[in-house]
Amino acid sequence: MNEPKWYDSAWLSAYYAAKDVITQVAPARLDEFVHSFDILRTSASFEPRHLPGLLDASLVEQIRNAIRTIPKDMYELHEMKSFGRFIVHDWPEFTRLQHSLVDRVSDWAGEQVEPCYNFLSLYTKLGVCEPHLDAPSAKWTLDLCIDQSEIWPIHFSQIVAWPEERPNLPDDWREAIKTNKAFQFKSVELTPGDAVLFSGSSQWHYRDALSHGAGKHFCDLLFLHYVPAGASKLIRAANWAELFGIPEIGEIPGIESAY
Ligand SMILES: [Fe+2]
Repeated sequence: MNEPKWYDSAWLSAYYAAKDVITQVAPARLDEFVHSFDILRTSASFEPRHLPGLLDASLVEQIRNAIRTIPKDMYELHEMKSFGRFIVHDWPEFTRLQHSLVDRVSDWAGEQVEPCYNFLSLYTKLGVCEPHLDAPSAKWTLDLCIDQSEIWPIHFSQIVAWPEERPNLPDDWREAIKTNKAFQFKSVELTPGDAVLFSGSSQWHYRDALSHGAGKHFCDLLFLHYVPAGASKLIRAANWAELFGIPEIGEIPGIESAY
């Protein structure tokens, strides 16, 4: 079977596995299961919202100071190889900022949202972000630029439906996605204090490798994720067995961590 291979695709693998289970044990309910996720699908008319100067200079400085107070042993290292970054999840000061932006994000997204997870991403000179679709827990992603050595464009496709079946990816799937003419990638450039709101689960997005030239190369970004109000239970695959009353879904290996 061809499971998707990109970052954050475990949710889609769980979705496919759940559809397989339902096809076996309750085929008449497959349509209901698929359409239960419509709240997480993004309107095709949405376009990334570039928000220059969303954070004023004093707030940017406050966030930089907060970053300096984070003990190094809080840094998660597991994405150094794949992304060239240290990350810190749900730091309380950033969670407060995330909550303070709910009404504005709701306006920009065109629907009422609620906060989901957030993380600080400290990219090093090894920084890169391969093309991916996030899990629906990142339906709305507010990407805030806090500091950087240079402009580092992010590229977005238009809104696309997430693949309903396991995708048949070539070996060079990264390049195949970036060069696929159907995706109409557009770029956004951020400077400190700027942000962009996009639909992480319904827009392919990537950043090419940061330049490796002389000097220090880095980019500090804050990612705040939001989901439609009321969707926080549905986004966790671990809840599906109970939500749909189909206990066999709960037996899918790895289902408890797909989020
Ligand atoms: Fe993403």
